[in-house]
Amino acid sequence: MRVRILGSAAGGGVPQWNCACAGCVAARRAGIDRTQDGVAVTGDGTAWYLVNASPDLRTQLLSAGDLEPGPGRRDTPIRGVLLTTAELDHTAGLLGLREATRLDLYATGTVLAALPVLPILRRYTDLRVHELPTGAPLALDGGLTVRALVVGTKVPRYADGRPDDAWVCALRIGDERTGRAFVYATCLPAWTEDFDAFLGGADAALLDGTFRTADEPLRAAGLTRTPREMGHLPITDALPRLRRHPGVRVLFGHLNNTNHLASGGAAAGVEVAEDGQELVL
Ligand code: MLT
Ligand code: MN
Ligand code: ZN
Repeated sequence: MRVRILGSAAGGGVPQWNCACAGCVAARRAGIDRTQDGVAVTGDGTAWYLVNASPDLRTQLLSAGDLEPGPGRRDTPIRGVLLTTAELDHTAGLLGLREATRLDLYATGTVLAALPVLPILRRYTDLRVHELPTGAPLALDGGLTVRALVVGTKVPRYADGRPDDAWVCALRIGDERTGRAFVYATCLPAWTEDFDAFLGGADAALLDGTFRTADEPLRAAGLTRTPREMGHLPITDALPRLRRHPGVRVLFGHLNNTNHLASGGAAAGVEVAEDGQELVL
């Protein structure tokens, strides 16, 4: 299985177009350009699945040689898109896929019901919508399977909906042939026992790196809501839990501009995901 990091930043990217915070200023000076969160995964090197569709998707796909179209005029190795939330930073790129001859979309029923772009997309492409079962694994092309775990209930600002629904999930993508597994959880409000078991035995994981510390939103941006209230467990709270999983290679993604790890900073024992990085499991 191969996993390509398409984008490593939270909503807005780093630097964000209208932001003059210390992190965005530092990123601009250093020529850092982190696009918004998402990955592409393949089991056989031929059939690829996108996890989330950020507003930066076009640029992300153009820089990923393996995702080039062909040999037919409209052939693409992209077999589908798996969504982990309905947030705009994970879904606004769907409109950019309207040229597809067919588009297979996988998400929880809650997310599918909320997406305002689906009726629009149906008029442009052969849209096939698949409800991601939570619990049972679903078979994908190229020998992959995916399992979803609901980890959060934060409703996107644009949506109406019950906060007890399946708004945010983690995915565990397995390769049938090799037995390897990759866990994607870039929006993780809390480290539950269920999530701990879900991560157990995986080979690699992309985890929530939005904030490095609990006081970061207040310190760096004057925000009074805590990372947990915003649906993002800080890295310093995840690290102790990871001691139970020494076999999992962990990268932190969905980095917010308040997090100095997004703009060239480093922290002991923390590996940060980079745009274009590839993991071979
Ligand atoms: C989040 O990750 O919490 C959301 O994407 C926030 C947002 O961009 O509205
Ligand atoms: Mn986000
Ligand atoms: Zn900023």
